[in-house]
Amino acid sequence: MRVNFLPILVPLTGLASLTSAQLQLFCPDALRYGTLKISPTTVAPGAEFTIVANMTCANYLGYTPTYLDYYIENTANNNGHEYPTLIARRTYNQSADPPLDAFTAVLPSGYWFAGAEYQLYMYNNYARIAPAGDTVILVGAVADSINITGY
Ligand SMILES: *[C@@H]1O[C@H](CO)[C@@H](O)[C@H](O)[C@H]1NC(C)=O
Ligand SMILES: *[C@@H]1O[C@H](CO)[C@@H](O)[C@H](O)[C@H]1NC(C)=O
Ligand SMILES: *[C@@H]1O[C@H](CO)[C@@H](O)[C@H](O)[C@H]1NC(C)=O
Repeated sequence: MRVNFLPILVPLTGLASLTSAQLQLFCPDALRYGTLKISPTTVAPGAEFTIVANMTCANYLGYTPTYLDYYIENTANNNGHEYPTLIARRTYNQSADPPLDAFTAVLPSGYWFAGAEYQLYMYNNYARIAPAGDTVILVGAVADSINITGY
């Protein structure tokens, strides 16, 4: 059996150049579009709920949003004609410190169906420089469960 000894690739001077943010943050790729918290997670039409989106890892991994769109989508037991419902379209404040998009939303009367399961999707619309030099907006999403009741 052959044993390979891995060379130590990072010299100590390289370690010293890591920023404190890099040393403290745990930002796996799955968090690149940001994270979101909904409260409460059971909401009736007309009721307020809060959304707190955290862009710490999105910023750190290079996915700082230009816009954030929030939709409620019927992800299980969809009867075939239930479309995503826009809850909020927001311009992200790229100077926000802490880097949160926090706001209160009102659940619309909407088209909600018994037995359906819903998720709140957050679409992170982020800018990239295309090969020809123009700026394009790309999108990625994360979701969290929301219960809709009382309709
Ligand atoms: C939705 O309601 C079900 C049944 O009451 C509950 O088990 C579940 O935890 C709730 N989910 C959320 C996200 O509140
Ligand atoms: C935002 O996410 C970062 C990285 O996971 C975490 O350290 C911080 O506590 C979060 N902030 C809030 C308000 O949840
Ligand atoms: C963006 O965030 C910065 C830092 O918190 C704040 O000073 C500024 O007023 C915010 N801009 C908007 C448009 O909310």
